[in-house]
Amino acid sequence: MALTIKPIRPERPDFAGEVLGIDLAKGVSPETATAIEAGMDRFAVLVLPNQVIDDDQQYAFSQHFGPMEQATGDIAQRDQRRLPMHINDVSNLDKDGRVLERDDRRRLFNIGNMLWHSDSSFKPTPAKYSLLSARSIPSEGGNTEFADMRAAWDTLDAKTQAECRDLVCEHTQLHSRGLLGFTEFTPEERLKWQPVAQRLVRRHPRTGRLSLYLSSHAGAIRGWPVPEARMFLRDLTEHATQREFVYSHTWRQWDLVIWDNRVVMHRARRYDDRQVRDMHRTTVADSAPTLEQVA
Ligand code: OGA
Ligand code: MN
Repeated sequence: MALTIKPIRPERPDFAGEVLGIDLAKGVSPETATAIEAGMDRFAVLVLPNQVIDDDQQYAFSQHFGPMEQATGDIAQRDQRRLPMHINDVSNLDKDGRVLERDDRRRLFNIGNMLWHSDSSFKPTPAKYSLLSARSIPSEGGNTEFADMRAAWDTLDAKTQAECRDLVCEHTQLHSRGLLGFTEFTPEERLKWQPVAQRLVRRHPRTGRLSLYLSSHAGAIRGWPVPEARMFLRDLTEHATQREFVYSHTWRQWDLVIWDNRVVMHRARRYDDRQVRDMHRTTVADSAPTLEQVA
């Protein structure tokens, strides 16, 4: 069957597509990867149903899209990790596959995934694509939602666009977790997650489209008083995440979802986390810090 990519919601023909006619377990050709990247340029989020893959197959597929990131944003200590460093563990499980206790530090940190964010915006060079594979899902809840930051930019009034245009934000996981009252970081974590600078407005290198680059990690705007900056970012986020711009993905086991962190924010939704939710993420790195990219 030939590869096809169709909009998931006809009313949003340029956001969130479904890919059929592909089997990642068999490996894909460079031509197929090129077609997927073209689909990503248009849809920013792609759902590939029914991809029964292991970590090696997921990683091999991901590598078509650029250099890979390591999971250095996770809070689990190395000896606590269930998965190797090249796989982000987006589950509620410990090393032995047991559901984390309610007050486990790793669980409380991971609750931060329920805030709107863009992956690794707290790293100097942030993430390009994230690829999330649903290995095991709860019986209900636990959707992942995606908000189109190109639409958010396009629908801002001209005055606000001009105000945003050259702003530089500071992103850190200390800020996003702090929003939820998670403040007990070790000195090493504080050092590792010092704020990094990112543009507020970005241009996609292939499509040329502009988008807002927001994330709950952003806690400051350079040159602005902190409360004013935070309020402005909060207003922009409210605008950017109105339901019209959001695709809510209801997971089926073995879905693989790819999103472009340069142009979408995402968040996890609640579920009964006494049930297992096991998701494995591979992450493709962007080409450079956003300030070094053409705006
Ligand atoms: C992620 C993430 C959301 C979810 O994998 O980066 O934020 O629904 N996941 O698990
Ligand atoms: Mn994420």
